[in-house]
Amino acid sequence: MFTTALAQRENTQLGELPLDLFAAIESLKKELNAVILAHYYQEPDIQDIADFIGDSLQLAKAAEKTNADVIVFAGVHFMAETAKILNPDKLVLLPDLNAGCSLADSCPPDEFAAFKAAHPNHLVVSYINCSADIKAMSDIICTSSNAVKIVQQIPKDQPIIFAPDRNLGRYVMEQTGRDLVLWQGSCVVHETFSEKKIVQLKIAHPEAEAIAHPECESSVLRHASFIGSTAALLKYCQNSPTKEFIVATEPGIIHQMQKLSPDKRFIPAPPMNNCACNECPFMRLNTLEKLYWAMKNRTPEITMSEDIRLAALRPMQRMLEMSV
Ligand code: 13P
Ligand code: SF4
Repeated sequence: MFTTALAQRENTQLGELPLDLFAAIESLKKELNAVILAHYYQEPDIQDIADFIGDSLQLAKAAEKTNADVIVFAGVHFMAETAKILNPDKLVLLPDLNAGCSLADSCPPDEFAAFKAAHPNHLVVSYINCSADIKAMSDIICTSSNAVKIVQQIPKDQPIIFAPDRNLGRYVMEQTGRDLVLWQGSCVVHETFSEKKIVQLKIAHPEAEAIAHPECESSVLRHASFIGSTAALLKYCQNSPTKEFIVATEPGIIHQMQKLSPDKRFIPAPPMNNCACNECPFMRLNTLEKLYWAMKNRTPEITMSEDIRLAALRPMQRMLEMSV
């Protein structure tokens, strides 16, 4: 499991890296009383050193419960920001501060404020993949694993704005029969999958099941026999008798799928172009080396104003109450 880390690592401008990066990170973990939380899209070495791996909801819950003094968040900025919203007194580190999210970026706060003002009397349900500013303008936060459940709990006569992901929003509309006002944001990774190539793969692998994340477009979702959050996809593959899967989400998750089901085959759904665009360029900015330096130097740290944090906390707490 630790073979990659035992190999000599390149040194960086920050200083000399220890030879055994895994051992050095373990020792920093004790020294700082730190916990490493990692998303399933992180590189395999980071997943292997993490104390907890999960989808956005599981990570938010883990951040809420931890007794650690330092949270090292191996994920993207909005996820680390969520940990800070829930833990104002803890030091929250993100290995690379540029690890953003195209979906969160597709919802600029000024434009969203105007959109909200144009739809008075609407309740705002925002997907957790958004900035703290957008959370602060929302009534309830949701994740891909509880979005349907949360919308189902809202009275039927209450009009709802759903932001920022139009694909998850459309999926929630189909599942709940509700008419939602959708912000037109999307994820560059989940909109890159090629319907044609998925169909070709299904023909070439007739025993394989296609599974997809609800951030994918409906042209991809209609070929999936199961749709769910990263954690739900993982659980589905583990419990299903099927031996082969075509996986329409970021392929980082295949590391866990393969670990939990070594006898099964996981085929990443291909992107439209001959590129690696199905890999999240933001998630991939974090590396084991950057994680080490973040812990060693206690930076980069996530910070935000207390006003925004408190305003963003309220809809987060509503989500946690509504998804028990
Ligand atoms: P999950 O909550 O399903 O892990 O999704 C997070 C994400 O960023 C998907 O692109
Ligand atoms: Fe954001 Fe998409 Fe990357 Fe998830 S996969 S973090 S939604 S850019």
